[in-house]
Amino acid sequence: MSETKIALVTGANKGIGYEIASGLGALGYRVGVGARDEARRASAVEKLRAGGADAFGVPLDVTDDQSAIAAAELIERQGGRLDVLVNNAGISGETGPGWVQDPTTLDLDLVRTVVETNVIGVIRVTNAMLPLLRRSTSPRIVNVSSSVGSLTRQADPDTEIGPVMAAYAPSKSFLNAVTVQYARQFAGTDILINAACPGLVATDFNGFHGPRTPEQGAATAIRLATLPDGGPTGSFFEDDGVIPW
Ligand SMILES: NC(=O)c1ccc[n+]([C@@H]2O[C@H](COP(=O)([O-])OP(=O)(O)OC[C@H]3O[C@@H](n4cnc5c(N)ncnc54)[C@H](OP(=O)(O)O)[C@@H]3O)[C@@H](O)[C@H]2O)c1
Repeated sequence: MSETKIALVTGANKGIGYEIASGLGALGYRVGVGARDEARRASAVEKLRAGGADAFGVPLDVTDDQSAIAAAELIERQGGRLDVLVNNAGISGETGPGWVQDPTTLDLDLVRTVVETNVIGVIRVTNAMLPLLRRSTSPRIVNVSSSVGSLTRQADPDTEIGPVMAAYAPSKSFLNAVTVQYARQFAGTDILINAACPGLVATDFNGFHGPRTPEQGAATAIRLATLPDGGPTGSFFEDDGVIPW
């Protein structure tokens, strides 16, 4: 089997996901660019290749079962296994003025949509890729979460945690909780799974408001994607270290 490590990054056509793909490409990984839109996927692959990365496109809508199955089949044909899965694709869902999602007036369909992408999408893609990850000698899974999913920080009146976001923030708490259950299930195996917070990064996601660049936002996910054997698992990290659940 090829020595070159193979990675898949979901939502890699732009923003933080694109920079995670670029960073892994620079480290010598063959990178699958998971993206649902054909034109955006093709242009990201072209840009990554122009930068020297060994990138290939993976059509992938994380809310679609068939799409996840087809993506796994494509990766199997491309490399026969998967070494790194970065579940990066995510949405905030619609917000009101000040980026608020008020729990008292929340549209239930909005909650369903956000959870379908940010949580169920991660489970769907992870489970579709697991047979390929199990063929790796050092499988790594990174779930791109957010510190707004930290219940400890949300409940601390002294922590600056931004607006009330009653759909998005709990979706990341849910994702964190799911990450812990996967880590428990993987105990005693070589699979390391962790959650990463990129910090407040200027991307489409937030109208390009935020002090950090997508490249800076990608750093923690790249570090967790390339952990050595015996590294941490079932934890939640940002640049400065562990985030409390
Ligand atoms: N930006 C921040 O400050 C910040 C902070 C904390 C956490 N995060 C997290 O970081 C991750 C990346 O966010 P970003 O800031 O880079 O946002 P972004 O620029 O809006 O990128 C989001 C990516 O996810 C993709 N995506 C959304 N729904 C998808 C679906 N159903 N199937 C496949 N791909 C889908 C988007 O694809 P399309 O182009 O097709 O829409 C896009 O590639 C998210 O999980 C987000 O929650 C961001």
